[in-house]
Amino acid sequence: MEKHFKRTTITSALPYANGPVHIGHLAGVYVPADIYARYLRLKGRECIFIGGSDEHGVPVTIRARKEGITVQEVVDRYHNLIKDSFERFGISFDVYSRTTSPTHHKLASDFFRKLYDEGKFIEQVSEQFYDEQTGHFLTDRNIRGECPRCHAPEAYGDQCEVCGATLSPEELINPYNAETGNPLVKKPTKHWYLPLDKDQQWLEKWILEDHKEWRSNVYGQCKSWLDGGLHPRAVTRDLDWGIPVPIEGAEGKVLYVWFDAPIGYISNTKELCDANPEKFGPWEKWWKDPETRLVHFIGKDNIVFHCIVFPAMLKAHGDYILPDNVPSNEFLNLEGNKISTSKNYAVWLNEYLDELPGRQDELRYVLTANAPETKDNDFTWDDFQARCNNELVAVYGNFVNRALQLTQKYYEGQVPACGELNAYDKETLAEFCDVKARLEQLLEGFKFREAQKEAMNLARIGNKYIADCEPWKVVKTDPERVKTIIYLSLQITANLAIAFEPFLPFSSKRLREMIALDTFSWEDLGRTDILPAGKQLPKPELLFTKIEDDVVAAQKKKLEDTLKANAEAAYKAAPVKPTVSFEDFEKLDIRVGLVKSCEKVKKSKKLLKFILDDGSGKDRTILSGIAQWYEPERLVGKRVLFIANFAPRQMMGEESQGMILSAVNFNGDLSVTTTIDDVRGGSQVG
Ligand code: MF3
Ligand code: ZN
Repeated sequence: MEKHFKRTTITSALPYANGPVHIGHLAGVYVPADIYARYLRLKGRECIFIGGSDEHGVPVTIRARKEGITVQEVVDRYHNLIKDSFERFGISFDVYSRTTSPTHHKLASDFFRKLYDEGKFIEQVSEQFYDEQTGHFLTDRNIRGECPRCHAPEAYGDQCEVCGATLSPEELINPYNAETGNPLVKKPTKHWYLPLDKDQQWLEKWILEDHKEWRSNVYGQCKSWLDGGLHPRAVTRDLDWGIPVPIEGAEGKVLYVWFDAPIGYISNTKELCDANPEKFGPWEKWWKDPETRLVHFIGKDNIVFHCIVFPAMLKAHGDYILPDNVPSNEFLNLEGNKISTSKNYAVWLNEYLDELPGRQDELRYVLTANAPETKDNDFTWDDFQARCNNELVAVYGNFVNRALQLTQKYYEGQVPACGELNAYDKETLAEFCDVKARLEQLLEGFKFREAQKEAMNLARIGNKYIADCEPWKVVKTDPERVKTIIYLSLQITANLAIAFEPFLPFSSKRLREMIALDTFSWEDLGRTDILPAGKQLPKPELLFTKIEDDVVAAQKKKLEDTLKANAEAAYKAAPVKPTVSFEDFEKLDIRVGLVKSCEKVKKSKKLLKFILDDGSGKDRTILSGIAQWYEPERLVGKRVLFIANFAPRQMMGEESQGMILSAVNFNGDLSVTTTIDDVRGGSQVG
């Protein structure tokens, strides 16, 4: 049953203050959250939109060491940069604070203390890696050592970047401190855990039964966490940056960043309400009243924390409401590559705002049109240009410009009176009379991409109407008829200014100025008498202008330069593996195989299926993970090297009978070894 709510608390994931925000953050979290907040406000619904910087955790400390400045300097720099760029981009937070604020320190600290006093945590001592010379316990990312799989000497405590293995620090051979190079020892340390196993039951009911309406990616991730069984999670860390654990005997320990950060939503609400009591009332009503609807906008890497851990914390505290929905997006890629803050591969919001000034709505439009709502999506500058020029300029901008220019030309800027409607007028009006209902349904279902399409469809209706009616021709024969055409075009224009307000607030505002629409309401949507006859309109300007080729070329080049620089930086040969004896070498039976056929394996992005002539007279099937780098047809007829006595393996329902040798380029690309001529399939290599 649909629950009735009085007001909505909208939160958006607090970005780490370890770098600027990029288009991935915007598409995933802030643009959809902003659309939603603007929509609710426009509807006159009571809501708050909470943002802020996440200033604790390991990422900011790593950045500080990299840049040789203090952690405080890092968070100050990026908090200010992020806050400022959100503002310039029109993300309409009611508050944008930070987790280093005194209000937050106190609230998070009290939150922990209450759970502690009520015995909601379990205390556990475990052995952790410790640097005796610096007196620090280390986090996984700060531990390095030899990879147990491929023996690369500099694997991280959580992953080996050479062979890709997921690791835990315990597995590393000779672990050392990544910063100092000092060897590490194991030392016992006490931490506090949230016993999530005890929450399993109510979480299962609350999510899997009561929230079946959550997006399938969110629901699915929750289900797989729950199916795997929940375990206690440590909520404290041995670190010197963060909120001190408010217990005696916990010196040198801080709250885990994922414990304090979501509480930041509450702290920021408190700051907002304390500063504006008349406008927002007491902060508790936004977090403790069951008639308040709590909605978290996040990216997919945050799902478990917002759907499982934070609700468990709120429930343990006892007096808080739980999220009603958690619309999480998937990831946005950039020109086919993963966006990466640490590799500097991104379109940074602050740079975009500087380099394409006044083009906020263009980016907002494209990010929503391409939003990764149900699957990962790709942002490309060509697509950006095409959407801006073919949709914003050629459809929306063109229509509005025609309507306004003709009003100037024929009526000196006065809205003409509407005459008798003909059949085509009525047909056109019928097409957009339910735009309000459709937009509402989509927006309330968090389908922002579809919703924006709906708004754009209104512009298409207008564009088609004015093009079909050809007022510039009709004016010569039937000037009365033209009044009706322009009148209706102006009403559609007014509708567009309202419909696009949540999505494209900058151009909507300019458009409202152009039609002198000072007061407007969402409720007007669908009406055809928004602009009264006789109303004087000011001189219009262009609503959108084209994105030129050189702008796009410069942005593409910037990204390519980054890729090149990264490839250069990674240009480091892997260390030679431990020596093997001749006998060991001889155990491998390496042979030449003639590729008889090669094709993509269905449902696999990685695998190619080879049929080899291996000299035995029988076909040999080998699956190889190189689909990313080869069109399979290119390999047919080539001779490749393969290991003939490699234990057969089942992959994607097929048996792979051997392994094809490839060279791993420095940037990670694979290249099949194919330079053998004049030997028969099955020939041995040695
Ligand atoms: N800083 C986290 C990230 O960027 C998000 C924190 S969201 C909050 O992934 F809930 F903790 F606030
Ligand atoms: Zn490895």
